[in-house]
Order: sequence, then structure tokens, then C-alpha cells
Amino acid sequence: MLRRLKVYSHTLYYSYASSYDNLCITSSLSPICILFARITNEESFMRIAHLSDLHLSPDHFPERSDALYEILHKCRSLKTDHIVITGDITNQAKPKEFAHARSILKEFDLLDPEKLTVTIGNHDIFGGPYYAEDVLSFPGYCRQTDYDGKVKEFYSAFRETFEGCQYVSGSSIFPYVKMIRDVVFVGINSVAQWSSLKNPLGSNGEVCKKQFHRLKEIFASDMLKGRMVVVLIHHHFNKQESKPSAGKLERLWGAIESSTMKLWKKKRIFSLFATASIGKVLHGHVHHHEGYKRKNIQFLNAGGTMFANPQGHCLFHLLHVQQQKIEHVDVRVVPNKRNRRSAIGI
Ligand SMILES: [Fe+2]
Ligand SMILES: [Fe+2]
Repeated sequence: MLRRLKVYSHTLYYSYASSYDNLCITSSLSPICILFARITNEESFMRIAHLSDLHLSPDHFPERSDALYEILHKCRSLKTDHIVITGDITNQAKPKEFAHARSILKEFDLLDPEKLTVTIGNHDIFGGPYYAEDVLSFPGYCRQTDYDGKVKEFYSAFRETFEGCQYVSGSSIFPYVKMIRDVVFVGINSVAQWSSLKNPLGSNGEVCKKQFHRLKEIFASDMLKGRMVVVLIHHHFNKQESKPSAGKLERLWGAIESSTMKLWKKKRIFSLFATASIGKVLHGHVHHHEGYKRKNIQFLNAGGTMFANPQGHCLFHLLHVQQQKIEHVDVRVVPNKRNRRSAIGI
């Protein structure tokens, strides 16, 4: 079968390419694409898929579970060494949702610290309102949520992937440091505690004081020295701006959204990041697929993994780490019309 790769700028569009070795590039080549096409099985080379915001539920949105099967098959065919999921793995943080997500990952043999790294998102603690009318009652629901209990539930659902994580002090789950070959992942919990003023819907972010101090210790230690540092966090660092063409209502909704979808105290996190040489910061939360630079740091948002572009494609990032260099391309998956809910074969 002819395996064909079309290159659109930095976006790679694959149709049944089962490995890089047989890829056929059909348009002008960007340096990144040449790099990817020349992949060999060198020891120092590492391929990381970055997914986010899966919002899985066994009862709702079956198309998301279907898409995850497609995406994980794609990761397998691309021979990814490691997968990272930056939060909102579940939709409502229900026990059966954690079990559902766990069972799919287990089917693909991903409950392994060498193969998968996860961090937590606001939906894994507070969930979110289903309908517009739920917005009014949702703050009360969030207030009653056992924040620490949900973090432990998240940890328990994906416990194998935390094996071998290192901590500077205390017994908290976040922040952690995980070393895989030449890469060091720093996993942060950016979900803010509920607050009637600062976080009424549970969707805003903050790195709490305790966690921030531990991060300072991590960044000052030898743990990150000489390795490619990749930070995993759920919340975003870019500004959400409404389009100049947006009408009054759209601008009003944009203002509401940005006040309930923000990361507080970003400044101190930026100054912490400036103390290390960071390869990439991977995040989600805002349901877009994008890459951007702020304060000289490269960010990748995989929040659009399940929230397809207008053409109905799922998108995720594929990172390529080699010899202290990190590059990335976008991978587009066309959800298959066949319902292929199995980890077996293609
Ligand atoms: Fe999300
Ligand atoms: Fe989120």
C-alpha cells in the first residue's frame, strides 16, 4: 500500500502511514519534515505524542472514545516512545469515567511509566456544567467537591504512570519530576481551589504556594541539569483575545470566558521558568490546537485533540527529541467512520 504524507507548512497529514521508514513526502519539504523522514532507531532519539483534554465519559460523547482509539492507533503506527496527556482526561471526574479512561489506556498497554505521563486538569477535579442552566448551580457543586480526594482519585486511576517519579519534599502527588531517557518531565497541578470570587466554576488555574516552593526547589536542584526539560501543566499562558470582527454578544461571552478560564499569578511562574532551560511547556485547557512563544519560552497547546477543526480532524503534537534539541510537528487524524473500539491491529 502506498503510504503518503502530504506536507502543509508544519502540519503533517497522514493517511495510513504505518512507520516513518516508508513515508513518501509529496510536496515541498520543510527542514522539520526532512528531519522526521530520516528517523532511525537511534538510542538517544525520542518521539513524544502530546494529547490533552480528552473529556472522556462512558455515557456521553461516544465519538471522543472512538477518536481516542484512532489517535492511539496512530501513535502506535508512528512508533511514539511516549505519550503525554495534559489534563481533563475525564469530563466530570466520576469514578466510572476514570475507570473508562483507564481501561482504554490499559488496552493499549499504556499504564506504564515508560510509556505514559499524565497531569491533572480542572475537569478531573470539578467536572464542568453540561448545560447553560447548570452554570447557576455549578458553583455550589464545586464548593462541595473534595479537592484533595479527587487528586488522589486521579492518581489512583493512573497510578502505574507515576512509578519512579521523584519529589523534592513532602508526600504530595504534584509537582513531580520524571526522567525518561534524556527528557525530564516536570508535572504540575495548575487547578485552583474553589473560590466564590476567583474560581466560581472551578475552571481557573493557580499553582498554590506549597507547590510553587517545591517547584523552586526542583528548579534549583541538579535534577534538571543536562537534560531536556519539558513542563506539563493543564492551564494556558497565552491571552485569549476576541476577534476584531466579534459582535457585542460574542465579546461579552469572550469576557466571561476569559474570567473563568485563566491562570492566576502567571508572572511568578514565568520567572521560575526563566531559571531553567526549558525545551517546551505542554498544556491544554483552551480547546485549540496551537503553538506560541511567550517570554522566550515555547508553548504547545493540545487542547484541540478531541475538539476537531472545522474539517472534523483531530489534532495532536508530535515532539522529536534528540541531542538536546526538541522539534515538533502537528499530526492530523481523520476519524474513521468505522467504529473501531479495539486496540488490536489496524
Ligand atoms: Fe478541557
Ligand atoms: Fe480544562
